Amino acid sequence: MLIVSYIIYLVASILFIFGIKKLGSPKTARQGNFLSSLGMFLAVVITLFDHMIITYEWIIIGLIAGSLIGSVMALKVEMTGMPQMVGLLNGFGGGASALVALGEYYKVETPNFELNIIITIVLSVLIGAVTFTGSLIAFGKLQGIVTGKVVKYPLQNPINVILFLAVLAAGVMIAIDPAQSQLLLGVVAVSLLLGILLVLPIGGADMPVAISLLNSYSGIAASMTGFVINNNMLIIAGALVGASGIILTIIMCKGMNRSLMNVVLGGWESAGSAGPAAADGVQKSHKSIDSEELAMLFDSASNVIIVPGYGMAVAQAQHAIRDLANLLESKGINVRFAIHPVAGRMPGHMNVLLAEAQVSYDKLYALEDINDDFPNTDIVLVIGANDVVNPAARHDKSSPIFGMPILNVDYAKTVIVNKRSMNVGYAGIDNELFYLDNTLMYFGDSKDAVTKLVNEIKQL
Ligand code: TAP
Repeated sequence: MLIVSYIIYLVASILFIFGIKKLGSPKTARQGNFLSSLGMFLAVVITLFDHMIITYEWIIIGLIAGSLIGSVMALKVEMTGMPQMVGLLNGFGGGASALVALGEYYKVETPNFELNIIITIVLSVLIGAVTFTGSLIAFGKLQGIVTGKVVKYPLQNPINVILFLAVLAAGVMIAIDPAQSQLLLGVVAVSLLLGILLVLPIGGADMPVAISLLNSYSGIAASMTGFVINNNMLIIAGALVGASGIILTIIMCKGMNRSLMNVVLGGWESAGSAGPAAADGVQKSHKSIDSEELAMLFDSASNVIIVPGYGMAVAQAQHAIRDLANLLESKGINVRFAIHPVAGRMPGHMNVLLAEAQVSYDKLYALEDINDDFPNTDIVLVIGANDVVNPAARHDKSSPIFGMPILNVDYAKTVIVNKRSMNVGYAGIDNELFYLDNTLMYFGDSKDAVTKLVNEIKQL
C-alpha cells in the first residue's frame, strides 16, 4: 500500500505543477484549476487509506462540515470579496499546520524527538500561528471589521524584533530539550501575538500584498508540517504554495515600485485615502467633455485603447465597457485594452472582470506589449484608473510613485479620463495627466458614464 501511496502522491504533485503552469494564462486557467483539484482529490483519497488512521468518525464529520462551508463560501462570495476569502483560507491553512505539528508533539507522553523533527515542529507552530492570526487581521481589515489605516505605535519594530527573538530562543531551548512542553505553549502564544502585530500596521490598501505574503507563509508552514509527519505530498504542495506566494508578492511590489519592507512596515500613510490632492499652491485647470461631444469624437477615431483601473471594478462597469468596445468595433474602429500589472486592487483584477464580461482575451494587452503604441492611438479612454497612468512616475523624483512602470497614455493624440471627480487614487497624489492639453475629463460613475456614451454613439 505504501508504494501505491508514493506513486499517487507523485502523480498528484505532477498534476499540481502542470496545474500551476496552466493557471498562467486565462485560456488554460480552467484546465489548470481542474488538474490541481484532481491532484488534491487523489492525494486526499489515498491519505484516507493510511494505516495510522484509527477511526473515521471525526474525519467524516470534518469532511462534510468543511465541504459544506467551502461550497457555500465559493458560491456566495462576490468577486470583490475574493481577497478576504483567500486571506481567510490562508489563515485556516496556517492554523491547521500548527495544530497538526502540536498534535504530533503532544501525542507522545515523553517528547523525545530527533533534532530535525523538533525543529520543524517549532517552525510549523511559529509560522502556522503567525499566518493564522495575521490572516484573520488581514481579513478583518478588508472586511472593514478592523481599521484599514496604517497603525503605528511607539517602539513598534523593536517590540516585534524582541518577540521574534524570544520565540527563536524558546525554539532553541525546546530543540535542546524537547520535553519542555510549557515553552512550546509559549511559542504558540507569542506567535499568535506576532501575527496580529505584524499585519496590524499594514494599510488596508496594501492588504493584497500582505495576503499574498501570508499565502506564502501558509505554504511554508504546511511544508514544515510535511516533515513533521513525514508526508512527501504535504512537503511538495507546501513548497509550491510557498514559492508561488512569494513570487506573486514580488511581482506586486515591482509593479508598485515598492520594496517588500516598505509594504510590511506600514508603507504609504496616505494609501487608500480618497480626498482630493493636497493643494500645492498652483492653480491648475482641466478641460471636461460631455457624452454627446465624446460620441462625436469617437465617430472620427480609427484606433482606440481602453485603460481600465480600480474605478471600473468599483462601478462594475465591465459589461458597459464591453458593449462600448463591441459598438466601436462594429463601426470599424480598432479597440484594444491596456492592462497595467497592478491596476485595481488585486493581481489580475482587470483581467478577471473583463473576462467575466466576455471581452475576448486577445484584445487585452500587457503594459510591455502596448506601451509603444500610444503615440499612434487616436483616443485613449481611461476608465477609473489613476496612479497607473500618472506621468509623474516617469520624471518626478519627489513623487511616491517615481519609477513605477506606467501606461504612457499621455503620448496618445487624445486622452479621455473617466472618473467621478478630481480626487486622488490609491497613492494619494495628484495626477498631472488630468491637466494636459490633450486630456479631457469625462466625469461620472464609470457604469453610468459609459452606458450614456454607448447610447449617444448609437444615436449618431
Ligand atoms: P487608483 O489609482 O486607485 O485610482 C482609481 C480611481 O478610480 C480613483 O482616482 C477614483 O477617482 C476612481 N473611481 C473610484 N470609483 C469610481 C467609480 N464608481 N466610477 C469612476 N471612477 C471611480 O487605481 P489604479 O489606477 O487602478 O491603480 C491601482 C493602484 O492600487 C496603484 O497605486 C497600485 O499600486 C495599487 N495597488 C494595486 C494592487 C494590485 S495587485 N492591483 C495591490 C495593492 C495596491 P474618483 O474618486 O474621482 O472617482
